[in-house]
Amino acid sequence: MLTPCLVILLLASTPGLSQGTEVVAPEERHLLPARSLRLPNDTYPLSYQLHISTNIHLGEWRFAGNATIDIEIRRSTNEIVVHAKNLSDIQITLRLLDNAKPEELGELVDDITHTFDPYATFLIVHPRVDYQAFEAGQRYRLQITYTGLMGTRPKGLYWMAYEEEPPSNRTVYVAATQSEPTFARLIMPCYDEPAFKSNYSIRLTHSSSLTAISNMPVKELVNHGELTTTTFQTTPPMSTYLVAFVISNFDHISETYRGVTQSIYSSPTSKDKGRSALKNVVLTVAALEDYFGVSYMLPKLDHVALKKNQGVAMENWGLITFRDDSLLSQDDADKHKTLKHKVMQNHEISHQWFGNLVSPEWWSYVWMNEGLATYFSYVITDLLHPEDNVMEIFNRDEAEHAYSYSSFFDVRPMTYYVETESEIMKVFDIISYKRAACVIKMFHHAFHQKTFVQGINRYLKTFQYSVVSEMDLFNSIQVAVLEDPRFQDQHWKHLVRHIMLSWTHSEWLPIVSIIRNYENNTITLRQRSIHSKTEHWWIPLNFATTQSPSFEQTHVEFFMPPVMEHTVTVEELRLQLAGRDWLIVNKQQTGFYHVLYDTDNLHAIARQLQSNHSVIHAMNRASLFQDLAPLIERNEFESVDVLFELFKYLEFEDDLTPWSQVANTIEFFDNNLYGTTAYSLFKQYVRRLVTPTFLRLFHKDKTEVVTMDILVRTDILNMACRVDMPECLDYTHRLVLEYVFKNINFESDYPDYYAIHDTILCMGVRQLSDEEFQKLIDLLIVTDPNTAMHDDMIYSLRCTRNHRRMHHYLNVLVGENFTYNLLNERESMFYLAYAFKSNVASRSSIWHFINQNYKQLARSPHFVTLFNDIAEFVPERQRPYFATLHRNIDAYLRAEHLSSKEPLIPVDSRRVGKKIRNSEEFLDKFEHQIHKWLLKELSPAGSDDTYAASFSVGNGSARPTSLLSAAGNIVRSAIGV
Ligand SMILES: *[C@@H]1O[C@H](CO)[C@@H](O)[C@H](O)[C@H]1NC(C)=O
Ligand SMILES: *[C@@H]1O[C@H](CO)[C@@H](O)[C@H](O)[C@H]1NC(C)=O
Ligand SMILES: *[C@@H]1O[C@H](CO)[C@@H](O)[C@H](O)[C@H]1NC(C)=O
Repeated sequence: MLTPCLVILLLASTPGLSQGTEVVAPEERHLLPARSLRLPNDTYPLSYQLHISTNIHLGEWRFAGNATIDIEIRRSTNEIVVHAKNLSDIQITLRLLDNAKPEELGELVDDITHTFDPYATFLIVHPRVDYQAFEAGQRYRLQITYTGLMGTRPKGLYWMAYEEEPPSNRTVYVAATQSEPTFARLIMPCYDEPAFKSNYSIRLTHSSSLTAISNMPVKELVNHGELTTTTFQTTPPMSTYLVAFVISNFDHISETYRGVTQSIYSSPTSKDKGRSALKNVVLTVAALEDYFGVSYMLPKLDHVALKKNQGVAMENWGLITFRDDSLLSQDDADKHKTLKHKVMQNHEISHQWFGNLVSPEWWSYVWMNEGLATYFSYVITDLLHPEDNVMEIFNRDEAEHAYSYSSFFDVRPMTYYVETESEIMKVFDIISYKRAACVIKMFHHAFHQKTFVQGINRYLKTFQYSVVSEMDLFNSIQVAVLEDPRFQDQHWKHLVRHIMLSWTHSEWLPIVSIIRNYENNTITLRQRSIHSKTEHWWIPLNFATTQSPSFEQTHVEFFMPPVMEHTVTVEELRLQLAGRDWLIVNKQQTGFYHVLYDTDNLHAIARQLQSNHSVIHAMNRASLFQDLAPLIERNEFESVDVLFELFKYLEFEDDLTPWSQVANTIEFFDNNLYGTTAYSLFKQYVRRLVTPTFLRLFHKDKTEVVTMDILVRTDILNMACRVDMPECLDYTHRLVLEYVFKNINFESDYPDYYAIHDTILCMGVRQLSDEEFQKLIDLLIVTDPNTAMHDDMIYSLRCTRNHRRMHHYLNVLVGENFTYNLLNERESMFYLAYAFKSNVASRSSIWHFINQNYKQLARSPHFVTLFNDIAEFVPERQRPYFATLHRNIDAYLRAEHLSSKEPLIPVDSRRVGKKIRNSEEFLDKFEHQIHKWLLKELSPAGSDDTYAASFSVGNGSARPTSLLSAAGNIVRSAIGV
């Protein structure tokens, strides 16, 4: 299954939000029955015959079902337990099958009845009088007729309406299924856990005007006038969560290659939009067969485009369902989107092996399905289309999320036991998809790619049509590693299980410190978790040095054992390493961890970057900055000089990967240095670094769309304008004027700028003349508040760095005469706080404004909340000023008996200045050092910005996301108005 909510989750989650806990509401806890939510394993399904009849063409949502399940009793028991949910009119007959005469209809068992367990969604078949009715070794035929109801949401069997084109204008109803993870029980009574694999013979009765497809090819079509019954061939052993069918008027295009027929199904008018997908899926199935050495197992594979699907796509065996847009090509599709869709299709195809052929024995191992499918969908796409560089998309869309998620959020181990339906749903998350993909990538490289794939081949062959735990995967890879002669001398060669377990059972991300001891030529390796929790890993390391850069070789050269510290000699590592040589660990960042180095080694790396940066792989140039960022943000580095030495080469950096990693760090410096004497030198320095790349990306005559690099383009633009690069300022100024006054629409006129238009507006607003600024304000007042234009204007005006204009803006927003016309009272306070946090240069203006207007602002019950919030940004040296303002406000609130949502913060609270303390420490520690370095680097010194206002120093809040301006309504609902 491919869920689209992952990124949203990342944006919406807050640290401390725990994953996978507390899914049962507390009030339900005490109602928990004694019975486990897991199926007992005393009985086992041998085969299903499923017959479903629908009159969906008449708009009838109730369907009739008949599930006949042949069951083997493995341990004597007094009940047969299956899942069933929201099924009605249940009639059960049970027959004892004669093992000797399997052809004959067995003897009817007539003293049985059934009970529901609604919490476990169990249908329990048992004798009327309790006794051990079912004996080990017996076989029964359980026949259940029932009715169910199709819903509109993609869970179980659901329906969709398609309007046909004029002249008919007919509405055609289409039915489809979604069984994963626990929705098969909505379609039929069944053993709805992945470990109960069985053969399914499916039969569907439907209008003769529609056709039916399912996991397997059609075996027989019987037409009885109005209705037709389609019978499908029996499936191989398969988990319930993969059962699928679609009843529709869809048309298809097909191609057969190596005996497998693949088809793209879509509503009849879209038939031709499936051509490029068909080409892709035919290539990919063949490539995966060759890559893993295991043929695709079914005679056919259909891909269906639906207007509604659970998430983006679902990998049902032989019948993959997609949301329309990821299967059918769009006329306006950009290259990046098309590539992403190809990867998504290939993700589902990879599941035909990972998940469908070999399935997890329980949802604890969702990562084995999703991690393997995610990673290998990129690998196979890269193999087929090396020119598309999809591994770069992997780094940006999968690895970066995995890194940041594993750093900041409350995480869980990859292998994680869950039980309730909602817990099961929740493990389809960043950990199972992205972290797992990164861990798998690490071992794919560490154990040599071919060897790892041999392990996968063994895994697929050994466990085909069966279920596995993680140990089965590790054992298969262990065998392959032992067979590889290159690992014969390695002391860890028998430890593959331990090595891999240390990653699937840990929660956080390791940071590895590489400390070179230059006197005795040894290296001390330290590992710690990025969090305070003590966790240790077997960490695959490899090394690049001045004398042997070898960035292409990514297998493990040394496994750091799971201990805090370990010292090795350079000889042990077989490295040629002189004192002034550089050493880089984790080549191409194929290992999933951060690396830190001692300062001397960083200087050596900086020297290499400055003399010829291309010697060091672009991924490692990027990871240097990625790995340093958390240290920098916590003021934990020793010498700031070395950072500025590392930045120096960026002037010549034409690969965007390192830029995307360094951007946040440069913004951090920019915010912290604002208003200091070093600031103008800093801007001059950054201008020098960023100018060539800016000119390359934003060249006037450039018409080519470079959408792939949207994020890093935003970073470059933001960086260049912040440091007053004239070309950037002119450029954004021009675009703002066009957007606001000439009705240029970013979405249609500048589609490649659409995603970065909020950055453009924010930066452009700073360049407006007084007259233009006034015109924009005038326009704002008359613009419909429900338009994107209105949101864009409110959002961008707060970026002004001009004291007077900021006052003007605030007056319009929340000033004396404001009437909540533009925003309601709560939104106004929200924007005020937002302007304060995001625009360092505006802080003194905003304090000033509050000082003048607090009597009027205090009319808002949210004012105190705002005040308390921004009090967190009061620098130490502004305390007296703050105390006076605080006293006045306090007195006024009391005198007027004004109510507020929360009490005014005490003037001596620890909260006051809390958010700025880090910045103050930064300046104490480094301001002088940075200034000195910059003076030396850039003499004679320029001084083009001396504006340093009272409340000016401090770090900004997080960079605004484009969500904010692009969807004002989302903002409104997020702040609950
Ligand atoms: C069946 O379940 C019992 C406990 O419910 C467990 O101990 C046993 O290992 C299971 N057997 C199999 C074959 O899974
Ligand atoms: C249910 O299906 C079985 C097997 O196909 C068949 O023998 C039986 O008659 C069906 N029952 C009903 C009520 O349709
Ligand atoms: C079908 O829809 C079109 C456009 O919406 C309309 O002009 C036409 O009259 C409709 N035809 C019928 C048969 O309702």
